[in-house]
Amino acid sequence: MIIAVDGPAASGKGTLAAGLAQHYGLPHLDTGLLYRAVGLAVADGVDTPGFEAAAIAAARALDAEHLEDLASLTSADTGVLASKVAVIAEVRSALFDFQRNFATQPGGAVLDGRDIGTKICPDADVKLFIQADSKARMERRARQLEARGVEVDRYALFHQIEERDARDMLNPNGGFYQAADAHLLDTTQLGIEAALRAAIAIVDRTMALKAGGQTSS
Ligand code: CDP
Ligand code: CDP
Repeated sequence: MIIAVDGPAASGKGTLAAGLAQHYGLPHLDTGLLYRAVGLAVADGVDTPGFEAAAIAAARALDAEHLEDLASLTSADTGVLASKVAVIAEVRSALFDFQRNFATQPGGAVLDGRDIGTKICPDADVKLFIQADSKARMERRARQLEARGVEVDRYALFHQIEERDARDMLNPNGGFYQAADAHLLDTTQLGIEAALRAAIAIVDRTMALKAGGQTSS
């Protein structure tokens, strides 16, 4: 069973994907980490003429070792860098096989990102598109950063998330939109447990309908 979880920044997709993976006993890949690792690798050259070529080279050289420094990878600044390398078509294609191989391992997997249901796994068994309003997402990310001792300027964070969302949504190579067969889950009013329960209900219903030979949409 392949479960695709997509959504904008701080919508709770990673938490939800990890919860689903645990519930169904599947491995989980946070694909944002790949883009973050590429962004981090070329951080010094951001907005210089060689940036694009360096990002492509970093994406081609990426391996699991680059995904270990979670503190640096998950910072807000690295998120911005990630969205800058994510608009480069060759970066996306260099990261495709890693994601596709993870998704198609025996037994299945849960992947979360922006383009899982549209580009990486258009054949996923269940697709979830996670939404939450901008203010709720900013507040969640703010608390997540504060819990790590990072001081947060909420106005700056709000603008940074909105700008990143815009770059992602307008990314011509991005595939960031709700797939026609994706289930929309708005978590604005849902805590983590309630969102997970709702997602499990969608997955179980979709799989039951599939087993019965019907489609769920
Ligand atoms: O992966 P994504 O950036 O979409 O979000 P996340 O890292 O899963 O969630 C961002 C923060 O919001 C985390 O600290 C979660 O614990 C929190 N969260 C929440 O408060 N309510 C939810 N329904 C989901 C996540
Ligand atoms: O957790 P959050 O939503 O803040 O970010 P993320 O999922 O770690 O992704 C960081 C950036 O990587 C996004 O803003 C996108 O620009 C890019 N990304 C992408 O283009 N495609 C994916 N499948 C995952 C991330």
